[in-house]
Amino acid sequence: MKSFNQGMILLFCSSFICSVASADSIEEMVSLMSQKLGDFKTLNESVLRGGLRVRLCQYCHGKDGNSTRAGVPNLAEQNPIYLLTQFEYFRTDKRKNKVMNELAKSLTKDERVNVALYYASQKVAFNPQLKNVNSSSYKSGAGIYKNICANCHGTKGYGEQNLPRLAGQQSEFINKTLKAYKEQKKIRPDSPMNAISAALSEEDIASVATFVSFMQ
Ligand code: HEC
Ligand code: HEC
Repeated sequence: MKSFNQGMILLFCSSFICSVASADSIEEMVSLMSQKLGDFKTLNESVLRGGLRVRLCQYCHGKDGNSTRAGVPNLAEQNPIYLLTQFEYFRTDKRKNKVMNELAKSLTKDERVNVALYYASQKVAFNPQLKNVNSSSYKSGAGIYKNICANCHGTKGYGEQNLPRLAGQQSEFINKTLKAYKEQKKIRPDSPMNAISAALSEEDIASVATFVSFMQ
């Protein structure tokens, strides 16, 4: 009986530790990332390891983080804390996308940090389609960006920490994402973007999506 009890306690303890460990709060993950960012050698190793772990991701996001499919975001040059935070939201189903929700659960803590650091270290490829763009829509997008978006995402569209980079992002992804915020689809945790997008017309959304995709 005694050993049975001990067994129960052991079982309880190990599943308790396990559930604490798998909770991996965002703060804990960000602090793990900050440690890696703080040391050049560790950072280099992390980026290298991350690059070896993106076999599954590259099918959609590209090996170098430049998306290979319409509607899939570029991850290259994205702020690493933003990438990691969003990945944790997928992992805990706070941000909803079937494929991402499944995939995010398949990586260890260390791998999640390494993959974010790897993609953040890649460069966004310049969008070569500028000459085919409707110039009045592009200009209107530039005006909207300057008046509204630049306040948070920065004049150059680089964002910082938890403010995503928009410069060079896929226009179809921006378009789809702003529409989802506007329609309050609740595919992401509460966001200032819901109210901002609700105030934009579909035409404004298309214009600003085009504009940011050409920012460098
Ligand atoms: C089958 C295609 C597919 C694969 C494979 C895939 N992703 Fe994604 N990923 C997407 C799509 C689509 C979105 C956008 C989801 C949405 O918000 O609608 C996304 C979003 C993301 C985001 C959020 C980016 C942002 O700007 O909001 C991150 C981070 C991410 N993926 C990382 C990864 C990593 C790391 C892997 C590999 C382990 C991976 N993805 C594999 C399709 C994919
Ligand atoms: C008050 C600050 C603020 C303003 C102004 C703002 N944003 Fe955002 N935006 C955010 C934050 C914070 C996020 C992070 C994700 C979230 O909370 O949904 C975000 C996320 C986004 C995303 C998702 C990017 C990704 O990679 O997943 C897009 C697209 C976006 N914003 C576009 C815009 C555009 C276009 C404008 C101008 C019309 C704008 N934002 C204005 C704060 C802002």
